[in-house]
Amino acid sequence: MFEHLKAKPADPILRLMQEFREDSHPQKVDLGVGVYKDEQGHTPLMQAVDRAQRILVESELTKSYIGPPGSPLFNDQITQLVLGNGLATKLKERLAVAQTPGGCGALRMAAEFIKSCQPTARVWVSDPTWANHVPLLGGAGLPLETYPYYDQQTGGVRFDAMMETLKKSARAGDLVLLHGCCHNPSGADLNSKQWQEITEFCLDKGVVPFVDMAYQGLGQGLNEDALGVRYLFNAVPEALLATSCSKNFGLYRERTGALMLLSAKAEQTPATASELFTRIRSHYSMPPAHGASVVETILMNSQLAELWQSELNAMRKRIQTLRLQLNQGLKARGVDRDFSFIERQQGMFSFLGISPEQVNQLRKDFSIYMVESSRINLAGLSAHNLDYVCDGIASILKG
Ligand code: LMR
Repeated sequence: MFEHLKAKPADPILRLMQEFREDSHPQKVDLGVGVYKDEQGHTPLMQAVDRAQRILVESELTKSYIGPPGSPLFNDQITQLVLGNGLATKLKERLAVAQTPGGCGALRMAAEFIKSCQPTARVWVSDPTWANHVPLLGGAGLPLETYPYYDQQTGGVRFDAMMETLKKSARAGDLVLLHGCCHNPSGADLNSKQWQEITEFCLDKGVVPFVDMAYQGLGQGLNEDALGVRYLFNAVPEALLATSCSKNFGLYRERTGALMLLSAKAEQTPATASELFTRIRSHYSMPPAHGASVVETILMNSQLAELWQSELNAMRKRIQTLRLQLNQGLKARGVDRDFSFIERQQGMFSFLGISPEQVNQLRKDFSIYMVESSRINLAGLSAHNLDYVCDGIASILKG
């Protein structure tokens, strides 16, 4: 039964992690996978998470099942974090929320949910989008279409082209996948006026917004990063949102996320929730508990919540500083290409805008690792390697 199987190419981002681990170069630099790193190049266990785990070890009384929706307390807390207290309260009766195994679990369950309630729907994704959106959503049987998004020339968003495509080609009942903040892979985000225009478009055309919010707090701030999404959710009848605690709580391997489904009317919510929980039951039955217990312990304890926010703020500021330093470092080396867009972009990622050959050369000659598209994870830079990275990039651009 297995004989006809052929090994598939490894996922490019995960393959890069493996290749980096195996490289013995003393100055190797990992700008590949999207995990936050500190000045020492470690992905830290956040102190708030560490303390919450200790509380849980002392206080947890059972490991019994938690059910397909996961923890109701986590679901309430994460909804408030994303939507803000006022809007979360206003929309409570219209929201069905499930704790999920990471943002990936939320995206896949959203796709399964869409497939079961609107089998002809297409999902419009940005060009480019996070590579794993394609198998996660397409794997549920949803056809994907792309809309223009990243402008290589300016490092911004091709907003006019994006709206023109969506207006011309998206149908009522289709979904448009939007990155809530810190667009992965480009770092180019929508501004508030553009969120308003998209909201108008969804209302006019009956297109359903589907938001992927994987980096809240790593762009401008926890509330600032959610303003566009909050505007949207306040206005539209139906919407979906996948969120993740991987990056902002540093809980990557604990697989902690949530899916929120907004129904047009409160009377619809029980059926929406029931459809979602049935999908979950038939896929993984219920989510793992630990990461969500950590998050709810932090968010329910004002001291821990404050500590967590200050740690998250420090992470965000470090990334913003590295953005400035990278641009300045390249300028100082006489690179004539304009990299100022890196300073204007948000979150962990930017494209360097170099060719796959140049990306390979950086890996071969300098052991500097990045995704073939030239996406870099800014958090992989530090005072220890910044000069080395700037020298490497300058040398391949000049050479
Ligand atoms: C990334 O984009 O590098 C992260 O979201 C990690 C992943 O799973 O791809």
